[in-house]
Amino acid sequence: HNDEGEAVVFSVPSFACQRRITLDNHNTIITGALSLLAENAELSEEDGRGVAFRRAAAVLKALPEPVTCMTQLRGLPCLGEHSLRVIKDILENGESNEVESMKQSERYKALKVLTGVFGVGAKTADRWIREGIHTLHQLRDSGHALNRAQQAGVEHYDDLNQPVSMAEADAVGEIVEKAVVSVLPGAQITLTGGFRRGKPSGHDVDFLITHPEEGREEGLMSKVVSWLESQGFLLYHKTSRNSYLESANGPARPASNMDRFERCFSIFKLAKKYHELGKDAGPEETKPAGHKPWRAVRVDLVVSPISQFAFALLGWTGSKLFERELRRWAGQEKAMSLSSHALFDNKQKRYLTATSEEEIFGHLGLEFIPPSERNA
Ligand code: CTP
Ligand code: MN
Ligand code: MN
Ligand code: MN
Repeated sequence: HNDEGEAVVFSVPSFACQRRITLDNHNTIITGALSLLAENAELSEEDGRGVAFRRAAAVLKALPEPVTCMTQLRGLPCLGEHSLRVIKDILENGESNEVESMKQSERYKALKVLTGVFGVGAKTADRWIREGIHTLHQLRDSGHALNRAQQAGVEHYDDLNQPVSMAEADAVGEIVEKAVVSVLPGAQITLTGGFRRGKPSGHDVDFLITHPEEGREEGLMSKVVSWLESQGFLLYHKTSRNSYLESANGPARPASNMDRFERCFSIFKLAKKYHELGKDAGPEETKPAGHKPWRAVRVDLVVSPISQFAFALLGWTGSKLFERELRRWAGQEKAMSLSSHALFDNKQKRYLTATSEEEIFGHLGLEFIPPSERNA
Protein backbone atom coordinates (compact mmCIF):
# COMPACT_ATOMS: atom_id res chain seq x y z
CA HIS A 1 0.00 0.00 0.00
CA ASN A 2 1.17 3.53 -0.74
CA ASP A 3 1.09 6.56 1.59
CA GLU A 4 -2.62 7.25 0.88
CA GLY A 5 -3.48 3.67 1.84
CA GLU A 6 -4.40 2.73 -1.73
CA ALA A 7 -3.44 -0.73 -2.93
CA VAL A 8 -0.34 -0.82 -5.16
CA VAL A 9 -1.04 -1.35 -8.87
CA PHE A 10 1.45 -3.87 -10.21
CA SER A 11 3.39 -3.77 -13.45
CA VAL A 12 4.77 -6.91 -15.15
CA PRO A 13 6.39 -7.30 -18.60
CA SER A 14 4.50 -9.38 -21.22
CA PHE A 15 6.87 -12.32 -21.65
CA ALA A 16 7.78 -14.57 -18.73
CA CYS A 17 11.41 -14.59 -19.96
CA GLN A 18 11.57 -10.83 -19.19
CA ARG A 19 10.66 -11.40 -15.53
CA ARG A 20 12.68 -12.52 -12.51
CA ILE A 21 10.56 -15.21 -10.93
CA THR A 22 12.07 -16.77 -7.81
CA LEU A 23 10.61 -19.53 -5.64
CA ASP A 24 9.50 -16.79 -3.21
CA ASN A 25 5.85 -16.72 -4.32
CA HIS A 26 3.54 -14.28 -2.49
CA ASN A 27 0.34 -15.55 -4.11
CA THR A 28 0.49 -19.33 -3.66
CA ILE A 29 -3.27 -19.85 -3.26
CA ILE A 30 -4.04 -18.13 -6.56
CA THR A 31 -1.11 -19.64 -8.48
CA GLY A 32 -1.94 -23.08 -7.06
CA ALA A 33 -5.52 -22.78 -8.31
CA LEU A 34 -4.44 -21.56 -11.76
CA SER A 35 -1.82 -24.31 -12.00
CA LEU A 36 -4.46 -26.94 -11.22
CA LEU A 37 -6.67 -25.57 -14.00
CA ALA A 38 -3.64 -25.66 -16.32
CA GLU A 39 -2.87 -29.23 -15.33
CA ASN A 40 -6.48 -30.31 -15.85
CA ALA A 41 -6.52 -28.69 -19.31
CA GLU A 42 -3.24 -30.43 -20.24
CA LEU A 43 -4.56 -33.77 -18.99
CA SER A 44 -7.64 -33.20 -21.18
CA GLU A 45 -5.37 -32.43 -24.15
CA GLU A 46 -6.49 -28.81 -24.30
CA ASP A 47 -2.98 -27.40 -24.56
CA GLY A 48 -4.06 -23.90 -25.57
CA ARG A 49 -6.10 -23.48 -22.41
CA GLY A 50 -3.29 -25.05 -20.42
CA VAL A 51 -0.75 -22.48 -21.63
CA ALA A 52 -3.21 -19.62 -20.95
CA PHE A 53 -3.55 -20.69 -17.29
CA ARG A 54 0.24 -21.26 -16.98
CA ARG A 55 0.87 -17.74 -18.32
CA ALA A 56 -1.66 -16.25 -15.90
CA ALA A 57 -0.04 -18.12 -12.97
CA ALA A 58 3.40 -16.86 -14.05
CA VAL A 59 2.17 -13.25 -13.87
CA LEU A 60 0.95 -13.77 -10.29
CA LYS A 61 4.25 -15.47 -9.38
CA ALA A 62 6.10 -12.31 -10.44
CA LEU A 63 4.24 -9.97 -8.05
CA PRO A 64 6.29 -8.57 -5.13
CA GLU A 65 3.46 -8.96 -2.59
CA PRO A 66 0.07 -10.62 -2.14
CA VAL A 67 -2.84 -9.35 -4.24
CA THR A 68 -5.64 -7.94 -2.07
CA CYS A 69 -8.07 -6.48 -4.60
CA MET A 70 -8.85 -6.79 -8.30
CA THR A 71 -8.00 -3.16 -9.13
CA GLN A 72 -4.33 -3.96 -8.48
CA LEU A 73 -4.36 -6.26 -11.51
CA ARG A 74 -5.48 -3.60 -13.98
CA GLY A 75 -3.31 -3.55 -17.07
CA LEU A 76 -1.41 -6.76 -16.28
CA PRO A 77 -0.68 -9.04 -19.27
CA CYS A 78 -1.90 -12.64 -19.77
CA LEU A 79 -4.89 -12.41 -17.42
CA GLY A 80 -7.92 -13.59 -19.41
CA GLU A 81 -11.56 -13.50 -18.39
CA HIS A 82 -11.45 -17.02 -16.95
CA SER A 83 -8.30 -16.49 -14.88
CA LEU A 84 -9.64 -13.16 -13.56
CA ARG A 85 -12.89 -14.88 -12.49
CA VAL A 86 -10.88 -17.49 -10.56
CA ILE A 87 -8.73 -14.81 -8.88
CA LYS A 88 -11.85 -12.79 -7.92
CA ASP A 89 -13.44 -15.89 -6.34
CA ILE A 90 -10.32 -16.52 -4.28
CA LEU A 91 -10.05 -12.89 -3.13
CA GLU A 92 -13.74 -12.88 -2.11
CA ASN A 93 -14.22 -16.42 -0.74
CA GLY A 94 -10.73 -17.71 -0.01
CA GLU A 95 -11.11 -20.41 -2.66
CA SER A 96 -12.41 -21.02 -6.17
CA ASN A 97 -15.58 -23.13 -6.48
CA GLU A 98 -14.54 -24.24 -9.93
CA VAL A 99 -11.16 -25.50 -8.75
CA GLU A 100 -12.53 -27.15 -5.61
CA SER A 101 -15.21 -29.07 -7.53
CA MET A 102 -12.69 -30.03 -10.23
CA LYS A 103 -10.39 -31.50 -7.56
CA GLN A 104 -13.31 -33.59 -6.25
CA SER A 105 -14.42 -34.80 -9.69
CA GLU A 106 -14.04 -38.51 -10.49
CA ARG A 107 -12.47 -37.68 -13.85
CA TYR A 108 -9.74 -35.45 -12.41
CA LYS A 109 -8.93 -37.94 -9.64
CA ALA A 110 -8.74 -40.79 -12.17
CA LEU A 111 -6.56 -38.75 -14.55
CA LYS A 112 -4.16 -37.97 -11.67
CA VAL A 113 -3.88 -41.60 -10.59
CA LEU A 114 -3.42 -43.00 -14.10
CA THR A 115 -1.02 -40.35 -15.44
CA GLY A 116 0.87 -40.79 -12.17
CA VAL A 117 2.04 -44.06 -13.72
CA PHE A 118 5.37 -43.48 -15.52
CA GLY A 119 4.77 -44.08 -19.24
CA VAL A 120 1.07 -43.18 -19.18
CA GLY A 121 0.09 -39.94 -20.92
CA ALA A 122 -3.18 -38.03 -21.17
CA LYS A 123 -4.37 -39.97 -24.25
CA THR A 124 -3.96 -43.41 -22.70
CA ALA A 125 -5.46 -42.31 -19.39
CA ASP A 126 -8.50 -40.88 -21.17
CA ARG A 127 -9.03 -44.12 -23.10
CA TRP A 128 -8.86 -46.18 -19.91
CA ILE A 129 -11.23 -43.83 -18.06
CA ARG A 130 -13.78 -44.21 -20.86
CA GLU A 131 -13.53 -47.97 -20.26
CA GLY A 132 -14.35 -47.38 -16.59
CA ILE A 133 -10.79 -47.76 -15.28
CA HIS A 134 -10.24 -45.19 -12.51
CA THR A 135 -7.74 -46.86 -10.15
CA LEU A 136 -4.53 -48.90 -10.31
CA HIS A 137 -6.49 -51.86 -8.97
CA GLN A 138 -8.98 -51.61 -11.85
CA LEU A 139 -6.08 -51.22 -14.28
CA ARG A 140 -4.46 -54.42 -13.00
CA ASP A 141 -7.79 -56.31 -13.14
CA SER A 142 -8.54 -55.04 -16.66
CA GLY A 143 -5.84 -57.30 -18.12
CA HIS A 144 -4.61 -54.49 -20.40
CA ALA A 145 -1.18 -55.24 -21.82
CA LEU A 146 1.24 -52.61 -20.50
CA ASN A 147 4.41 -51.59 -22.30
CA ARG A 148 7.82 -51.85 -20.60
CA ALA A 149 7.73 -48.26 -19.29
CA GLN A 150 4.22 -48.65 -17.89
CA GLN A 151 5.12 -51.94 -16.20
CA ALA A 152 7.99 -50.20 -14.46
CA GLY A 153 5.64 -47.31 -13.67
CA VAL A 154 3.14 -49.57 -11.93
CA GLU A 155 5.84 -51.54 -10.13
CA HIS A 156 7.50 -48.42 -8.70
CA TYR A 157 4.35 -46.29 -8.43
CA ASP A 158 4.74 -45.20 -4.79
CA ASP A 159 8.46 -44.39 -5.06
CA LEU A 160 8.03 -42.42 -8.28
CA ASN A 161 5.18 -40.36 -6.84
CA GLN A 162 7.25 -39.37 -3.83
CA PRO A 163 9.23 -36.16 -4.45
CA VAL A 164 13.00 -36.48 -4.95
CA SER A 165 14.97 -34.50 -2.36
CA MET A 166 18.09 -32.43 -3.00
CA ALA A 167 20.14 -34.99 -1.01
CA GLU A 168 18.86 -37.75 -3.29
CA ALA A 169 19.63 -35.63 -6.36
CA ASP A 170 23.22 -35.23 -5.05
CA ALA A 171 23.50 -38.99 -4.51
CA VAL A 172 22.32 -39.66 -8.07
CA GLY A 173 24.78 -37.02 -9.30
CA GLU A 174 27.69 -38.84 -7.68
CA ILE A 175 26.71 -42.08 -9.41
CA VAL A 176 26.28 -40.42 -12.82
CA GLU A 177 29.62 -38.61 -12.39
CA LYS A 178 31.35 -41.90 -11.62
CA ALA A 179 29.75 -43.56 -14.64
CA VAL A 180 30.68 -40.73 -16.99
CA VAL A 181 34.33 -40.38 -15.95
CA SER A 182 34.75 -44.18 -15.98
CA VAL A 183 33.73 -44.47 -19.63
CA LEU A 184 35.17 -41.13 -20.85
CA PRO A 185 37.70 -39.27 -18.68
CA GLY A 186 37.34 -35.51 -19.13
CA ALA A 187 33.60 -35.65 -19.81
CA GLN A 188 31.55 -33.25 -17.72
CA ILE A 189 28.13 -33.50 -16.12
CA THR A 190 25.84 -30.61 -15.17
CA LEU A 191 22.70 -30.74 -13.05
CA THR A 192 19.81 -29.14 -14.97
CA GLY A 193 16.01 -29.00 -14.55
CA GLY A 194 14.30 -27.85 -11.37
CA PHE A 195 17.28 -28.54 -9.08
CA ARG A 196 19.44 -26.11 -11.08
CA ARG A 197 16.71 -23.52 -10.51
CA GLY A 198 17.09 -24.08 -6.76
CA LYS A 199 13.94 -26.13 -6.19
CA PRO A 200 14.25 -28.12 -2.92
CA SER A 201 12.58 -31.19 -4.51
CA GLY A 202 11.51 -32.49 -7.90
CA HIS A 203 9.77 -35.28 -9.78
CA ASP A 204 13.07 -36.43 -11.27
CA VAL A 205 16.77 -35.48 -11.57
CA ASP A 206 18.04 -34.06 -14.88
CA PHE A 207 21.67 -34.10 -16.12
CA LEU A 208 23.41 -32.75 -19.19
CA ILE A 209 26.62 -34.48 -20.25
CA THR A 210 29.27 -33.12 -22.62
CA HIS A 211 33.01 -33.27 -23.41
CA PRO A 212 35.18 -30.15 -23.99
CA GLU A 213 36.50 -31.64 -27.25
CA GLU A 214 33.83 -31.62 -29.98
CA GLY A 215 32.97 -35.12 -31.18
CA ARG A 216 34.40 -36.97 -28.17
CA GLU A 217 30.84 -37.19 -26.75
CA GLU A 218 29.70 -39.39 -29.64
CA GLY A 219 28.52 -42.80 -28.50
CA LEU A 220 28.83 -41.72 -24.86
CA MET A 221 25.24 -42.42 -23.82
CA SER A 222 25.27 -46.13 -24.58
CA LYS A 223 28.57 -46.52 -22.68
CA VAL A 224 27.24 -44.63 -19.67
CA VAL A 225 24.05 -46.70 -19.67
CA SER A 226 26.02 -49.97 -19.98
CA TRP A 227 28.22 -48.97 -17.03
CA LEU A 228 25.20 -48.03 -14.88
CA GLU A 229 23.46 -51.26 -15.84
CA SER A 230 26.50 -53.43 -15.05
CA GLN A 231 26.70 -51.83 -11.58
CA GLY A 232 23.03 -52.57 -10.92
CA PHE A 233 21.91 -48.92 -10.79
CA LEU A 234 19.16 -49.15 -13.43
CA LEU A 235 15.63 -50.43 -12.90
CA TYR A 236 14.53 -49.12 -16.30
CA HIS A 237 16.03 -47.16 -19.18
CA LYS A 238 15.04 -46.09 -22.66
CA THR A 239 17.60 -44.32 -24.80
CA SER A 240 16.36 -42.32 -27.76
CA ARG A 241 17.33 -39.68 -30.25
CA ASN A 242 16.10 -36.25 -29.27
CA SER A 243 12.86 -35.59 -31.14
CA TYR A 244 12.30 -32.34 -29.28
CA LEU A 245 12.68 -30.20 -32.41
CA GLU A 246 9.99 -32.14 -34.21
CA SER A 247 7.46 -31.56 -31.43
CA ALA A 248 4.49 -29.33 -32.19
CA ASN A 249 5.84 -26.33 -30.28
CA GLY A 250 9.45 -26.63 -31.45
CA PRO A 251 11.04 -24.12 -33.79
CA ALA A 252 10.59 -24.51 -37.52
CA ARG A 253 14.25 -24.81 -38.37
CA PRO A 254 16.21 -27.73 -36.98
CA ALA A 255 19.91 -27.48 -36.15
CA SER A 256 22.23 -29.11 -38.64
CA ASN A 257 23.62 -31.77 -36.30
CA MET A 258 20.54 -32.43 -34.18
CA ASP A 259 20.70 -36.17 -34.80
CA ARG A 260 23.74 -36.42 -32.52
CA PHE A 261 21.65 -35.42 -29.49
CA GLU A 262 20.80 -38.42 -27.36
CA ARG A 263 18.78 -38.75 -24.21
CA CYS A 264 17.88 -41.45 -21.75
CA PHE A 265 14.77 -41.64 -19.60
CA SER A 266 15.62 -43.92 -16.72
CA ILE A 267 14.65 -45.17 -13.30
CA PHE A 268 17.55 -45.48 -10.84
CA LYS A 269 17.77 -47.91 -7.94
CA LEU A 270 19.08 -45.58 -5.25
CA ALA A 271 20.35 -47.00 -1.96
CA LYS A 272 18.73 -45.39 1.07
CA LYS A 273 21.03 -43.72 3.57
CA TYR A 274 21.30 -45.44 6.94
CA HIS A 275 19.13 -42.87 8.72
CA GLU A 276 16.39 -43.27 6.08
CA LEU A 277 16.12 -47.00 6.66
CA GLY A 278 14.33 -46.85 10.01
CA LYS A 279 14.46 -49.46 12.73
CA ASP A 280 13.16 -52.21 10.42
CA ALA A 281 16.50 -52.30 8.66
CA GLY A 282 18.52 -53.45 11.65
CA PRO A 283 20.19 -56.83 11.04
CA GLU A 284 18.72 -58.51 14.12
CA GLU A 285 15.15 -57.57 13.23
CA THR A 286 13.07 -59.38 10.67
CA LYS A 287 12.38 -56.93 7.87
CA PRO A 288 8.65 -56.66 7.18
CA ALA A 289 7.60 -56.93 3.54
CA GLY A 290 7.59 -53.57 1.76
CA HIS A 291 10.64 -52.22 3.55
CA LYS A 292 13.47 -52.23 1.09
CA PRO A 293 16.90 -50.63 1.47
CA TRP A 294 16.56 -48.67 -1.80
CA ARG A 295 14.10 -46.50 -3.66
CA ALA A 296 13.28 -45.87 -7.33
CA VAL A 297 14.12 -42.39 -8.69
CA ARG A 298 13.41 -40.98 -12.17
CA VAL A 299 16.56 -39.68 -13.87
CA ASP A 300 16.89 -37.95 -17.27
CA LEU A 301 20.26 -37.93 -19.04
CA VAL A 302 21.08 -35.85 -22.12
CA VAL A 303 24.34 -35.81 -24.09
CA SER A 304 25.25 -32.69 -26.07
CA PRO A 305 28.27 -31.78 -28.18
CA ILE A 306 30.18 -28.85 -26.65
CA SER A 307 29.22 -26.56 -29.58
CA GLN A 308 25.56 -26.86 -28.55
CA PHE A 309 26.13 -27.05 -24.80
CA ALA A 310 24.93 -23.52 -23.94
CA PHE A 311 21.70 -24.06 -25.89
CA ALA A 312 21.17 -27.49 -24.33
CA LEU A 313 21.84 -26.09 -20.83
CA LEU A 314 19.39 -23.24 -21.35
CA GLY A 315 16.82 -25.60 -22.87
CA TRP A 316 17.00 -28.22 -20.12
CA THR A 317 17.04 -25.86 -17.16
CA GLY A 318 13.40 -24.79 -17.58
CA SER A 319 10.90 -24.04 -16.29
CA LYS A 320 8.84 -25.40 -19.16
CA LEU A 321 6.89 -22.14 -19.37
CA PHE A 322 10.10 -20.08 -19.25
CA GLU A 323 11.43 -22.13 -22.22
CA ARG A 324 8.21 -21.74 -24.14
CA GLU A 325 8.24 -17.98 -23.54
CA LEU A 326 11.89 -17.70 -24.65
CA ARG A 327 10.99 -19.39 -27.95
CA ARG A 328 7.90 -17.18 -28.35
CA TRP A 329 10.01 -14.07 -27.64
CA ALA A 330 12.64 -15.18 -30.17
CA GLY A 331 10.05 -15.77 -32.89
CA GLN A 332 7.67 -12.86 -32.30
CA GLU A 333 10.05 -10.13 -31.20
CA LYS A 334 13.35 -11.04 -32.88
CA ALA A 335 12.45 -13.15 -35.96
CA MET A 336 14.74 -15.87 -34.58
CA SER A 337 14.20 -19.59 -33.96
CA LEU A 338 15.52 -20.91 -30.65
CA SER A 339 15.90 -24.58 -29.77
CA SER A 340 17.94 -26.66 -27.32
CA HIS A 341 20.48 -27.00 -30.15
CA ALA A 342 20.85 -23.62 -31.76
CA LEU A 343 19.61 -20.10 -32.46
CA PHE A 344 18.79 -19.18 -36.06
CA ASP A 345 18.42 -15.57 -37.20
CA ASN A 346 15.70 -15.60 -39.87
CA LYS A 347 16.63 -12.14 -41.21
CA GLN A 348 20.40 -12.73 -41.47
CA LYS A 349 19.71 -16.35 -42.54
CA ARG A 350 22.43 -17.69 -40.25
CA TYR A 351 23.00 -19.44 -36.93
CA LEU A 352 24.18 -17.32 -34.00
CA THR A 353 26.71 -19.26 -31.94
CA ALA A 354 27.11 -19.05 -28.16
CA THR A 355 29.34 -20.61 -25.52
CA SER A 356 27.31 -19.41 -22.52
CA GLU A 357 23.70 -18.79 -21.53
CA GLU A 358 24.58 -15.09 -21.08
CA GLU A 359 25.52 -14.89 -24.76
CA ILE A 360 22.19 -16.41 -25.83
CA PHE A 361 20.21 -13.88 -23.77
CA GLY A 362 22.39 -11.20 -25.39
CA HIS A 363 21.59 -12.42 -28.93
CA LEU A 364 17.91 -12.34 -27.98
CA GLY A 365 18.12 -8.78 -26.64
CA LEU A 366 17.06 -9.93 -23.18
CA GLU A 367 18.50 -9.11 -19.78
CA PHE A 368 20.24 -12.23 -18.39
CA ILE A 369 17.98 -14.13 -15.99
CA PRO A 370 19.87 -16.59 -13.74
CA PRO A 371 18.42 -20.11 -13.24
CA SER A 372 17.05 -19.31 -9.76
CA GLU A 373 14.88 -16.60 -11.35
CA ARG A 374 13.49 -18.79 -14.17
CA ASN A 375 10.80 -20.36 -11.96
CA ALA A 376 7.91 -19.16 -14.13
N1 CTP B 1 12.60 -30.86 -21.51
C1 CTP B 1 12.79 -30.89 -22.86
N2 CTP B 1 12.23 -31.89 -23.59
C2 CTP B 1 11.49 -32.86 -22.99
C3 CTP B 1 11.30 -32.84 -21.62
C4 CTP B 1 11.87 -31.80 -20.91
O1 CTP B 1 13.47 -30.04 -23.39
N3 CTP B 1 10.95 -33.81 -23.73
C5 CTP B 1 13.19 -29.76 -20.74
C6 CTP B 1 12.10 -28.79 -20.33
O2 CTP B 1 12.24 -27.60 -21.03
C7 CTP B 1 12.31 -28.59 -18.87
C8 CTP B 1 13.53 -29.42 -18.49
O3 CTP B 1 13.80 -30.25 -19.58
O4 CTP B 1 12.56 -27.26 -18.61
C9 CTP B 1 13.27 -30.21 -17.25
O5 CTP B 1 12.05 -30.91 -17.39
P1 CTP B 1 11.35 -31.65 -16.20
O6 CTP B 1 12.29 -32.58 -15.55
O7 CTP B 1 10.10 -32.24 -16.75
O8 CTP B 1 10.87 -30.46 -15.26
P2 CTP B 1 11.60 -29.73 -14.04
O9 CTP B 1 11.53 -28.28 -14.34
O10 CTP B 1 12.95 -30.30 -13.79
O11 CTP B 1 10.63 -30.01 -12.82
P3 CTP B 1 10.58 -31.30 -11.88
O12 CTP B 1 11.15 -30.87 -10.58
O13 CTP B 1 9.13 -31.64 -11.77
O14 CTP B 1 11.36 -32.39 -12.52
MN1 MN C 1 9.67 -11.18 -1.83
MN1 MN D 1 13.21 -32.37 -13.61
MN1 MN E 1 13.12 -34.39 -16.56
